[in-house]
Amino acid sequence: MRPVRRRTALILGGAGTAAALTGAAGLLWGAGSGYQPTGGQVLSEPEVLRSSNGSLRVRLRASQAQARIAGTNATVLTYNGSVPGPTMFLRPGDRVNVTLENGLQNPTNVHVHGLHVSPQGNSDNVLLSADPGTSFEYEYRLPADHPPGVYWYHPHHHGMVADQVFGGLYGAIIVEDPHPVPVARDRVMVISDISLNSDGKVAAVSAMEKMMGREGSLVLVNGQLNPQLSAKPAERERWRIINACTARYLNLRLDGQRLQLLGLDSGRYQNPRDVEEVLLAPGNRADLLVTAAPGTAVLRTLPVDRGSAGSMMGSGTGGQQGRTDANGTVLATYAVSGEPALSAQPLPAQPAPRDLRSAAVTARRELTFSMGMGMGSGMSFTFNGKPFDPARVDTTVPAGALEEWLLTNTSPMDHPFHLHVWPMQIIETASGPVSGPEWQDVVNVPARSSVRVRIAFDDFTGKTVYHCHILDHEDSGMMGLIESR
Ligand code: C2O
Ligand code: CU
Ligand code: CU
Repeated sequence: MRPVRRRTALILGGAGTAAALTGAAGLLWGAGSGYQPTGGQVLSEPEVLRSSNGSLRVRLRASQAQARIAGTNATVLTYNGSVPGPTMFLRPGDRVNVTLENGLQNPTNVHVHGLHVSPQGNSDNVLLSADPGTSFEYEYRLPADHPPGVYWYHPHHHGMVADQVFGGLYGAIIVEDPHPVPVARDRVMVISDISLNSDGKVAAVSAMEKMMGREGSLVLVNGQLNPQLSAKPAERERWRIINACTARYLNLRLDGQRLQLLGLDSGRYQNPRDVEEVLLAPGNRADLLVTAAPGTAVLRTLPVDRGSAGSMMGSGTGGQQGRTDANGTVLATYAVSGEPALSAQPLPAQPAPRDLRSAAVTARRELTFSMGMGMGSGMSFTFNGKPFDPARVDTTVPAGALEEWLLTNTSPMDHPFHLHVWPMQIIETASGPVSGPEWQDVVNVPARSSVRVRIAFDDFTGKTVYHCHILDHEDSGMMGLIESR
């Protein structure tokens, strides 16, 4: 490991720029820790791998490695040595071959979150495991009508997901549009959080933090702290944003800029929506258009109240590094200046999304999320009273079924519910019936409330899972096995 000269890094790393933006009082570098995280570099993006002639071959080597994180040499978990791992750009109909090499000390596997592909065999089968020192060949076949959108990949080995994702294992997958959206530039922004010790190693996490869902003290964009983005006035940019945090909810704002949401998770809205804030539970993704207005804007995430585990447990999150205040946590700085660009071309028309609200439902089910004191010492995290057991199928659905599920959270914390393979249409929340077709693959179920969704179990059969996307909860048992057959 190269010696880290932190003073030098701090000065060269653009802290001066940040200071100029916030004024003297706004800096809280390294509060409560031995090292000084630095930010302020130009946003970098992971390596891009693009399919051609309908196919992409990717080698993903998971291993511990040194990587530059927030201006320090950190010892983290990486795919191909970088955090995040490479970005895959795919098209509907593609065949994707991924060789996963496990260079970690523990078993792992890989899951393609949100892709509508088979969960069987060597496709998106999260019940498989690659031991240390072995490799596994995955093959995914995207249907010809696969929805465009923002997806991602991460490990899914039960019991180790939170540690492996928190350690740095994640990457973006983009399924491209049939008709390109005219933009000045595309950006992929993977937001993650991590806590590092002064020696650059990933900090240990307490039982309490796991119970709450750990939140790292550094919130990173593509592994960077407060990266700098620049644009010219009137340029339209497309930002594909992934919430890869282990448990942290993001409520994104970019004041002073025009934001339009093209879609959340997979697929598209029929018309872009003007938004001021974008709430992303862990696992959610946003496909966002930003039309640049002159000035310097700060991309921040506002605090999100996701409940607590009650008075006996106290509150869960540790200190925050980087810049945090009542206005939230700074994620990136967007500087818009120069000669205005010509105004952007019109957006291509989108077909209306599918709407299951008027469809005939073939079955209704209820799924109740609970947290309780277990028989022994720790907390239990369950669906319908049962913690995950890979040997037990919890839910069997006939292939082609169209089901309505009532998701009920009896606990004092929010849980983001995720189903593999088949996206969910949100029908009703605590505030009433949903007015349009809203599709997501991670649906937040707020504390002590219910959400009703509909799911079309089309195209694939086999066993897969649903779970809470607070990955500590998933590892603790808040996951169920579903079989479509
Ligand atoms: Cu993003 Cu089953 O997970
Ligand atoms: Cu998933
Ligand atoms: Cu949860």
